[in-house]
Amino acid sequence: MTTPANERGYRVMTLPGDGVGPEIVAAAGRTDTDALQDHSSSERGTMGKTYKIAVLPGDGTGPEVVAEGLKALQAAAAKHQFTLDLTYYDFGGDRYLRTGEILPASAADELKGFDSIYLGAVGHPDVEPGILEKGLLLRLRFELDQYINLRPVRLYPGVETPLKDKGPKEIDYTVVRENSGDMYAGGGGIMMKGTPHEVAVQNMLYSRAQVDRCLRWAFEYARQHGKKARGIGPDNTLGLVGKTNVLTYVYGLWYRRFNEIGEEDYPDIKREYYHVDAACMWMVKSPEWFDVLVTGNMFGDIITDLGAITQGGMGVAAGGNINPEGVSMFEPIGGSAPKYTGLGVINPVAAIVAGAMMLDTLGESQAAQDVESAVAEVTSTKMKGMASGQMGYSTSEVGDLVAERV
Ligand code: IPM
Ligand code: MN
Repeated sequence: MTTPANERGYRVMTLPGDGVGPEIVAAAGRTDTDALQDHSSSERGTMGKTYKIAVLPGDGTGPEVVAEGLKALQAAAAKHQFTLDLTYYDFGGDRYLRTGEILPASAADELKGFDSIYLGAVGHPDVEPGILEKGLLLRLRFELDQYINLRPVRLYPGVETPLKDKGPKEIDYTVVRENSGDMYAGGGGIMMKGTPHEVAVQNMLYSRAQVDRCLRWAFEYARQHGKKARGIGPDNTLGLVGKTNVLTYVYGLWYRRFNEIGEEDYPDIKREYYHVDAACMWMVKSPEWFDVLVTGNMFGDIITDLGAITQGGMGVAAGGNINPEGVSMFEPIGGSAPKYTGLGVINPVAAIVAGAMMLDTLGESQAAQDVESAVAEVTSTKMKGMASGQMGYSTSEVGDLVAERV
């Protein structure tokens, strides 16, 4: 990128209106100050709402899939008469290698000024594992208090699943992964490092407040988006995934609050409980049993990769890091896939679906639905496969196919 660095030392550009990649934005050559003061899109008058979106294309194939996601979102914006005012940030591995800084101290505060954040991927082959993950992705999740990680497991028509005799009807549920606590919170340490007596501790940590806010959100979600609410089942069901037989403290707390809150405030929501190991079996054997699942951060991380492969893999799976009271961040959950960078072979579907989830959270639910329907049409009538290089189309052709149908 050739954009000038701003006084905070990072590069940011805005270009409202067009679904272009950061390279093109950079080529526009405007200064950061111009960019931040550009509100022309919101003053157009004829359009509906304007949403300020921070775009973080990130590393590897992140920029490619984000560009395709934005194509679909811009098509939806044109159709439904709203405007996306895009501000690009160059956070990621390249910037870190260049400057030694992962995120400027002001980043989270600045991002709080947006309506939403659209993220490509983090992870760079020349950066040690953990640095960018912790310093960028997890740091933003924590500092923006995005305490819900919403991960639908939905098999689109025409997409191959490794599950025998299962189709879109059976593979259609949602995991609500708690996103602020657990072993992710960073509690722990290493003692007597380098000696034979070295001890490493990583704490599974949950406060009742964290558990409660996540459970309440999940119950609400089940009420509004459960299988009964969607007209495809007799109940709206919330299943808690835990490990109450071993992790008696932490999942004891989850289990108690799950039943207390459910009993008191959500008697209309059917409650189920699964140990996490058993949940993995049923995700393979009988995914149709599930409606909405809620679980802690670590289990949620693990089971959503299992869920992802049942829905066609990392090219398809999308997620939202949600702060219901603040700014949320949407991402394809697959990572940066560095070896495919620049080849035009990466599947942009996950990023497009993440964009649809973003529209839904912004309140543009019809636009979100249009994007998702367009994706379903393209997976069922056009794409040959979901894996990189197996789509029968290039990354940008898939983006075009979806955008045309929005
Ligand atoms: C995910 C990822 C992240 C996580 C990593 C990259 C830190 O696996 O979003 O699921 O563990 O949450
Ligand atoms: Mn993960």
